[in-house]
Amino acid sequence: MYKILITGVGSYLPTNKCSNETLSNFVDTSDEWISKRSGIKSRHFVSDNEKTSDLAFFAANKAIENAQISKNEIDLIILATTTPDNTFPSTATLVQKKLEINAVSFDVQAVCAGFVFALSVAKSMMTEGNYKNCLVIGADSMSKLLDWKDRSTSVLFGDGAGAIILQKIKNIESRYDDWGILSNIIHSDGQFYDLLKTNGGVSTSQKIGFIEMEGKEVFKHAVDKLSSSLEEALKASNKKIDELDWLVPHQANQRIILAVADKMKIDVNKVISTVKDHGNTSAASIPLALESAVSSNKILNGNLIGLHAIGGGLSWGASIIRIGKPKIL
Ligand code: UT7
Repeated sequence: MYKILITGVGSYLPTNKCSNETLSNFVDTSDEWISKRSGIKSRHFVSDNEKTSDLAFFAANKAIENAQISKNEIDLIILATTTPDNTFPSTATLVQKKLEINAVSFDVQAVCAGFVFALSVAKSMMTEGNYKNCLVIGADSMSKLLDWKDRSTSVLFGDGAGAIILQKIKNIESRYDDWGILSNIIHSDGQFYDLLKTNGGVSTSQKIGFIEMEGKEVFKHAVDKLSSSLEEALKASNKKIDELDWLVPHQANQRIILAVADKMKIDVNKVISTVKDHGNTSAASIPLALESAVSSNKILNGNLIGLHAIGGGLSWGASIIRIGKPKIL
């Protein structure tokens, strides 16, 4: 018997922090509008020579340190990103190079749902294959996709990275059966492709394009699909919503976070929210919020946690995890 445990978390935000007040110097907006409509107060932006792979590398190093493993034990790197350093090769291979390790490395692209997709792929590969230690990263430089003339999107996004270490541990006693990744649910529906997309791309315009979003429509889908996927993930892991110690949702909008908490009838004090500090960092959002709650001793070893996210595609999903490792290990 083996389990796939989550044994380390790490995150990184670029040092360049931009408040709503600063943003309103170059975007036609106000702190009042952004705070009221989204709950965001500030975000971080990469500097000119800072790349997505740098954010991912810093977050990865912290997760490796937190897991107390040697980086050489990592045999799989899955990086969720929509903002790769180059169109190809994968940014994951660059992180592997920077870490100076040998590991199968590739990117997953499911925009803001990227981290839950990467987690699902990691669990499948570790279950089916021989991989023992996997580094799962969510990293994005969303500022590169922002049209500063579009105030309805440019005020919402920021840059950052978060990472976790998954370890396949053998010979675990059956009483620890509900540790680690308990369930992963992922969905996509391309009929909603146009609701949230860039207005260009490699095979369309040979330019990366800027984000375009039908905000109100995406908002409705978000509340609906985040709730339904969490319900599915709870059912698949045979857990009830009341059993969750914490919910770590995608950090896009505080109003969405509160609407889902209300719909799911989960105590809002059990919901981790960090959107105020970094805005929507796409694939980085869940691991950033997770790391923040772990390092502030809110989330403790052995806590049962729900994760869920939604993004362009539309793509969405949820996971139930029991974080950390039993004391006996
Ligand atoms: O990670 C992927 C998931 N993404 C999301 O979850 C985002 C989902 N959508 C949302 O979060 C919200 O729809 C927004 C925050 C994007 C917008 O909130 P809203 O309550 O739907 O506002 P709205 O788009 O209806 O805009 C209302 C007004 C408009 O003015 P009028 O036409 O009523 O006079 C906009 O022009 O607010 C105006 N507006 C702004 N005003 C100041 C739009 N953006 C801004 C701005 N500053 N930045």
